[in-house]
Parts: sequence; C-alpha cells; structure tokens
Amino acid sequence: MQAEYRQRREQLMAKIGNAVAIFRSAPTAVMHNDVEYAFRQESDFFYLTGFNEPQAVAVLAPHHPEHQFILFVQPKDREQEVWSGYLCGVDAAKEVYGASVAYPIAELDEKLPQYLEKADRIYYHLGRDRNFNDKILNHWQRLMRTYPKRGTGPIAIEDPGPILHSMRLLKSQAELKLMYQAAEIAVEAHNHAWEFTQPGHYEYEVQAEIEHIFRKRGALGPAYPTIVASGKNSCVLHYIENERKMQDRDLLLIDAGCSYGYYNSDITRTWPVGGKFTPEQKILYEIVLEAQKQAIAQVKPGNPYKQIHDTAVRILTEGLVSVGILKGEIDSLIKEEKYKPFYMHRTGHWLGLDVHDVGVYQHGDDKPQILQPNQVLTVEPGLYIVPDTKPAEDQPEIDPRWIGIGIRIEDDVLVTSTGNEVLTAGVPKEVHEVEK
Ligand code: GLY
Ligand code: MN
Ligand code: MN
Repeated sequence: MQAEYRQRREQLMAKIGNAVAIFRSAPTAVMHNDVEYAFRQESDFFYLTGFNEPQAVAVLAPHHPEHQFILFVQPKDREQEVWSGYLCGVDAAKEVYGASVAYPIAELDEKLPQYLEKADRIYYHLGRDRNFNDKILNHWQRLMRTYPKRGTGPIAIEDPGPILHSMRLLKSQAELKLMYQAAEIAVEAHNHAWEFTQPGHYEYEVQAEIEHIFRKRGALGPAYPTIVASGKNSCVLHYIENERKMQDRDLLLIDAGCSYGYYNSDITRTWPVGGKFTPEQKILYEIVLEAQKQAIAQVKPGNPYKQIHDTAVRILTEGLVSVGILKGEIDSLIKEEKYKPFYMHRTGHWLGLDVHDVGVYQHGDDKPQILQPNQVLTVEPGLYIVPDTKPAEDQPEIDPRWIGIGIRIEDDVLVTSTGNEVLTAGVPKEVHEVEK
C-alpha cells in the first residue's frame, strides 16, 4: 500500500505546481469525561499517507529542493505508550511512511515557514478547529508581511478539495478490493438479520446480530449508526434508538453497513417482520423496488449522475399516483415536487472512505457530473408515509391504510466500463425472496 499512497501524493503534487499542501490528522473525540472514542483518521489525510495517528500534519512541497513530503508526528513516549498504545514516532514516520523528513509535532511552527516561503499558494482546508486554522493563517500573514523582502511566498490559500476529491472519486483496484470486502461482510450481516427477524424480538437484538458479524469478520465496525426501524419507526430516516419490540404486521427497515480497512458499505433492506407483507406494504414495496432497479439501470459510463435520481423520482411519483396518494399529472407533480412529503431524500451518494463520500454531483447549473468507470455510489430510493403528514392543498387526504409504512432499498453500485456491478447484490430484494 505504501507505493499507492506515494503515487497519490505524486499525482496531487503534479496538479498543484509550486504550491504547498497542508493536511491535518483527525482530532481525538471525547466520549465522556476522560474517555475517548476509538480514533478514526481524517479521510484525506489517510488517503495520502496511510498514517493512522492523531496530532499529525502532512505537508506536500513539490517545489522544495530536498523535502517533498514532510510529516509532523507525536514523538515516541514510553509513558504515554503504556497507557494508549504504540506510537509510530519520528524515525519510523520517515522509514515506514516514506516521508522525506519527519519532525516532532511540537516543531511545526518552527519548521513550516521554510516550506512555505517559496511556494506560490497554500492548499489548506479550513477545518472545524479554529485555533489550528488560525495557526496556518498566521503563518500566511507573516509570510505576506515579509513578501517584499523575498519577492516569493504564497499569495493565496485554496481548498484542496476539488483537486483531491476528484482523485478520491475514482477508486483504484486496491480500494475496490476493500470495498468488495466491506460489501460482502454487510451482505452476510443483512442475510443473517433476515433469518433472525421474527415478531417479539427487539430491534436492538437485530442490531447486535448485525454488528457481531461486522466485527467477527474483521470490519472496524459499523460505517454509521445501524438503523433497525420497525413499524412506523421506518418513517424516521435516521432512527437509531433501535429499542422497539417488533410486531407481526410490521415492516422492518434495516440500514446497516460496515467499515473495512477504512472503506464503507451501506445497505438498506426492508422486509416484513412476520414473513408476509400486508397488501399495502407489498404495493408500496414493489413501487420502491421498481424505482431502485430502474435507477440502477441508469448507472453506466456517460450518463449524467442526476439521471439516477430523476428516474427514481418519476417511478415513485407514478406509483404514488397509481395508489391514490398523489393526484394529478406526473410531469407537474414532479416539477412541483409533490412527491417530497413521501420521498424527501436524494437517491444516493458517492461511497468510499467516507460513507457520504467526497466528489461533486454537478458542475454548476448546466454541466452535469458524468458517470465514469471506478466510481462507487449508492442507489437508495424509498417511500415514507409519515404519520400526520398534511397533504398539499390540491392533494387528497391520505387513506389511513398507508400511514406508517416506510420502505427503502439501498445497494452499493460500481460503475464499470460497460455498465455497473451491484456490489451488494447478495442480499435478496424480490418480494418472494424477502417473504418467508
Ligand atoms: N446510511 C446512510 C445513508 O444511507 O446515506
Ligand atoms: Mn446511503
Ligand atoms: Mn444507508
């Protein structure tokens, strides 16, 4: 993998010319008092370095005569390591991670200017930590004050996102291998959850079954808080309490994926707790399933990204009209977004190191993002007949038989050279397959 991290740095450096790029590791996050969450590296930082510790800064200086890749890290500290585990330290940062030079993080202020003073720009993402942002801005300010003396120095700060994230959007073979694995583990977990589901079990029991498989198969854990939503909980998009006892005529919506080697999967399935759909559940399920299949069929190189969502919206809207939840002419219902009370989210997102991965969806108003091989995205239409939804003035009252039904079907899809591959196809979704 080190060769690939190097290749990524070189690719980025080739694109930034005489600039310097600065990346900061993720902070540690407090769970409560002096207990911290397990550390998770910031994705851009990880993508470029593979370095997995907090309190680190990576600098890329393509124009510098000696050092192009500089790492600032926590030094070895025996006492701290006894409590919190192994630290890579300065020497190994150079040897293992291929830095041209490594320094203790405490030397950042002293060492950074030498890499900035001949650069023409700084690439830096303004992060949540205002103090650290200020640190970088102060360096910049000082260098601008002394600019006349040298006639060199960074005259602008730019966000590295657009350049770096267009790289992250196209997955390498090594990345895809991890994504296949993340998908496969989540497929097994969903299939097991289906077997396990029955009236009388609690949602959290299903969650435990799922997360047991994640960890047992070597995933770091869930990619996001696992959603196990039965009955009308399925209408809450991010329901994570998972505390309800499941009943016979409920639907169960499970949105669960894992993180494997830092790459994520993200699957949703909806099935009847008691094994058989009610007629209303089945009708809405078939609409969502059709929307999802047709949306997936739009995933191929050359198609605009937006076409996936537009396709899903059309089929969902037609379906809502066919059952009498919406009334009117399809095109104007779509244009006026009358489907929105029942379908309020987008049809998917890029997937990778982040669950909602980086990369743009649209290049301004007139220029669509065009799908290309090696992009990975989710396709996840749904319908949610949320209790107490007030229909629009020109729309009918919602027949109570639909109320409280929430359905989403989500797969992870790789754009291939000829079309697509559904990485999560191993979890059945046909009506006869999800019924028992
Ligand atoms: N689980 C988050 C999402 O589906 O986007
Ligand atoms: Mn998703
Ligand atoms: Mn999801």
